[in-house]
Amino acid sequence: MHPIAIAPSLLSSDFAYLANECADVARAGADFLHIDVMDGRFVPNLTLGAPVVASLKRATTLDLDCHLMVEEPDHLLDDFAKAGARWLSVHIEACRHLHRTVQRIRALGMSPGVALNPHSAFATLEPILPFCDFVLVMSVNPGFGGQAFIEPMLGKVRQIDAWRKQHNPNLFIQIDGGITTATIGAARQAGVDWFVAGSAVFGQPDRAAAIAQLRAAAGEAHST
Ligand code: DX5
Ligand code: ZN
Repeated sequence: MHPIAIAPSLLSSDFAYLANECADVARAGADFLHIDVMDGRFVPNLTLGAPVVASLKRATTLDLDCHLMVEEPDHLLDDFAKAGARWLSVHIEACRHLHRTVQRIRALGMSPGVALNPHSAFATLEPILPFCDFVLVMSVNPGFGGQAFIEPMLGKVRQIDAWRKQHNPNLFIQIDGGITTATIGAARQAGVDWFVAGSAVFGQPDRAAAIAQLRAAAGEAHST
């Protein structure tokens, strides 16, 4: 099993103080930053784009993990590569030629991931898995922070975990949505390596304590 990583989601941070918020979670022990890019079409919300990511790249030493919740993301890939994204995920539901998109992300020097909405089945993911560095399992409907964890998504995590044991142990499994000290343990046991946490980190006054508590809750559950 890979070691766990905690990736605070900037969506729940104070957008007026982005550089400070990044510095705060870096000091608090975050492994990398999760950045939610929303276009108001694929999801009913609008956030930020590559220019903001480029500025963040200059403001933090943490790796940037960009989660594109946009229709037809192909036209944005070059901009995100130039902006300094390390990891880039696109939604399986938003790409007509997903294999081409994933190959393009890799050719641009980023690590490609594929994200799945709660309704998307493992079977739709399986053909693209050999080309991905990570999978992002949405455990809420994308668009907003602070929603309740959809527990049955852990079944899909177990399917991906079983696949990687057979085919590619280097694949990472990321979960996004509703991760708290109450849900992270079961997610870890199902096979998740990377935990996106928005409100559970940025919603807390002491981010170091919040991250430490998430790690403890993931580890404790794993060792039982
Ligand atoms: C939702 C985003 C998430 C969001 C998670 O569409 O993809 O990254 O920030 O927020 P929490 O952790 O509060 O559920
Ligand atoms: Zn996200």
